[in-house]
Amino acid sequence: MAISSSSRQMLLLPLLVAGVLLSSVHANFYQNVEITWGDGRGQINNNGELLTLSLDRASGSGFQSKNEYLFGKIDMQIKLVPGNSAGTVTAYYLKSPGSTWDEIDFEFLGNLSGDPYTLHTNVFTQGKGNREQQFKLWFDPTSDFHTYSILWNPQRIIFSVDGTPIREFKNMESQGVLFPKSQPMRMYSSLWNADDWATRGGLVKTDWSQAPFTASYRGFNEDACVWSNGKSTCPNGSSQGTSGSWLSQELDTTGQERMRWVQRNFMIYNYCADTKRFPQGVPRECTAA
Ligand SMILES: *[C@@H]1O[C@H](CO)[C@@H](O)[C@H](O)[C@H]1NC(C)=O
Ligand SMILES: *[C@@H]1O[C@H](CO)[C@@H](O)[C@H](O)[C@H]1NC(C)=O
Repeated sequence: MAISSSSRQMLLLPLLVAGVLLSSVHANFYQNVEITWGDGRGQINNNGELLTLSLDRASGSGFQSKNEYLFGKIDMQIKLVPGNSAGTVTAYYLKSPGSTWDEIDFEFLGNLSGDPYTLHTNVFTQGKGNREQQFKLWFDPTSDFHTYSILWNPQRIIFSVDGTPIREFKNMESQGVLFPKSQPMRMYSSLWNADDWATRGGLVKTDWSQAPFTASYRGFNEDACVWSNGKSTCPNGSSQGTSGSWLSQELDTTGQERMRWVQRNFMIYNYCADTKRFPQGVPRECTAA
């Protein structure tokens, strides 16, 4: 018996909903991302569970999410380039298009074997960044996968590593600080050569005899309001955004304590403390209550 198109839609709807729920459990790179450059240096394997990017003298590689988001909690497990990764940069960020773009950045600056990676973070609003904070990690990010998360909701941006918050950028629009909240962003990741600045400010160059350099990804989770045809749809279809708790999430006391622990022990650069760089005074978000 033929199924009418309206009853077919009825059948399909629960499947679609189940698919959305499943995709956040079993990340499938074939479904969620596309490799955009690198001429074969980016690869998806293991039925879509593993993605690798590589870099050699000729080129790096990169991929991006198929979806664009207006707010979300984006998680990725990454195992960084092992061994001598000096000169390489693995970037993982959200960014909107255009010349007045918004951007939320994680960048991992490689190092000589045994020397620590630097985790570099930044927040751009309307094309302007200059909000760098850098950290060392409390583990070896090359020996296993670790989860790097960006929580972006209308009130705040929280950067986390394995669930530990390391940085918070609050919405301080009421004090005249721009906050990204109207330009949808896509997730991007890439592995590239930046030996003109990345390691010890460019003193240590990439050792091409070690190439190809490879970073691995798994467990991509996009718990987000997805942008499509000029509107944002939150996980259960509510454009109000009443669905995900991440949409209103803030740091609880434990989260704040964890973040202070990281910042006290592992932060190696903070633009807010760089009074030489900002002789007229550090940016307003650094001092606003
Ligand atoms: C690399 O290691 C050196 C020596 O420990 C350190 O000074 C530097 O901050 C590390 N990171 C980068 C990206 O240069
Ligand atoms: C959708 O949002 C409502 C309102 O907050 C919530 O109660 C419900 O659990 C959500 N449904 C799903 C499937 O996430």
